[in-house]
Amino acid sequence: MNILILAAGQGKRMHSALPKVLHTVAGQPMLARVIASARALDPARIIVVVGHGADAVRSRLDATDLRWVTQSPQLGTGHAVQQAVPELDSSVPTLILYGDVPLTRVSTLQGLCAAATGTLGVLTVTLPDPHGYGRIVRENDQVVRIVEERDASNGERAICEVNTGILVAPTRALIGWLARLRNDNAQGEYYLTDVIAMAVADGLQVATHQPADLWEASGVNSKRQLAELERIAQREAAGVLLDQGVSLIDPARIDIRGSLTCGRDVTIDINCLFDGDVVLGDQVSVGANCVLRNVRVGAGTRIEPFSHLDDAVVGEACRIGPYARLRPGTALARDVHIGNFVEVKASLVGEGSKANHLAYVGDATVGARVNIGAGTITCNYDGVNKHRTVIEDDAFIGSDSQLVAPVRVGRGATLGAGTTLTRDAPPDQLTVSRAKQMSVAAWKRPTKTKS
Ligand code: UD1
Ligand code: CA
Repeated sequence: MNILILAAGQGKRMHSALPKVLHTVAGQPMLARVIASARALDPARIIVVVGHGADAVRSRLDATDLRWVTQSPQLGTGHAVQQAVPELDSSVPTLILYGDVPLTRVSTLQGLCAAATGTLGVLTVTLPDPHGYGRIVRENDQVVRIVEERDASNGERAICEVNTGILVAPTRALIGWLARLRNDNAQGEYYLTDVIAMAVADGLQVATHQPADLWEASGVNSKRQLAELERIAQREAAGVLLDQGVSLIDPARIDIRGSLTCGRDVTIDINCLFDGDVVLGDQVSVGANCVLRNVRVGAGTRIEPFSHLDDAVVGEACRIGPYARLRPGTALARDVHIGNFVEVKASLVGEGSKANHLAYVGDATVGARVNIGAGTITCNYDGVNKHRTVIEDDAFIGSDSQLVAPVRVGRGATLGAGTTLTRDAPPDQLTVSRAKQMSVAAWKRPTKTKS
């Protein structure tokens, strides 16, 4: 089939410079979510009608499998579909979706298409308060037309079954109906919904289908509605994790803006944010208030509260945090400990190594079983260039050392506390750079002078 996505509307009520369909739900622009659902149906063509902010929308989402049509000015949903007619393959049906209705399940769309084989089908919902929607008018149970709120009689306004906007139609017939649309209505627009009565006049029996959940049909016109759908999307994602056996201490306090893949017996405490692609191995635990973005964590690793991990790979049985920061390009081997107020960037840290307190490890290659003392800093940046620090296996870096890169600490070397290392430290020796300690026996503390 053809899938046509309408996304030309302005979204005035968003009060934003960003085109409405680029606002995100669970980290993904609404239109990207609709396109993803469309792709899951394996259509012959996906056509997106854009108008307001067309360039921004295209540049953000363009892909080789999409065809773009610009609608300008926007004269209504029927007019939008008319603009796409040259792009439609008339030998297969056309499914019409809205770019601002982001949470429709693929199974619901499949259900609609199955219910409407050979005819026109409309996805409808029954709402306690149908205000604002097009109403589904039936006679003897059969759909006869759709009437928009502003054109409806009082009797019609009492109808609670409404048009979600999502419909599927035989394409050749649809093209014929579109050519006959008129705009003599309350809004002076070309209504796509007018094709329903035309289909009935042509002798078709209009099919309807309902989604399993009402929110599948919810559109976004305001930040308030966007926030509501965000909560729903998060609740659903949390539900999927629970069903898979992940322990969420509070499923209402987790946010997933991308994909989170978990092994067995994973526990996630409250207020964690997962962004991009995150993979947690078996028995990983994530403490409260952590942010993980594009991270892979090995089995048995514990991430303590308030840790921030970005573009990093963490091995098995590691202990991270509390208050640790792993920045892009960090790769930790097995059994590594990164403790509180330790920042690691673009560094490899070997098995069994530890940096437990207050350290900066940047652009470094750290071997196995290395101990990095509190307050240690790799001075990787000379103001112009970044340089690497290499610390070989079994080295011991005393507290408050500065490693002025490029520099190498040999295997088994020990740096005395407070060392400012500017030349390589040879293996297996103690290297220390420190002013000699002295004591002045006769020294007296100054006393307060009287004025
Ligand atoms: C439309 C339906 C109404 C339905 C409601 C569901 C019509 C005439 N009415 O009303 O029956 O209950 O959706 O939300 O179809 N768009 C364009 N170009 C345009 C106008 C709209 O691309 O010229 C797009 C919008 O970006 C949006 C969608 O079409 O994605 C719906 O537009 P909107 O203005 O929200 O339609 P409603 O008047 O709410
Ligand atoms: Ca709408």
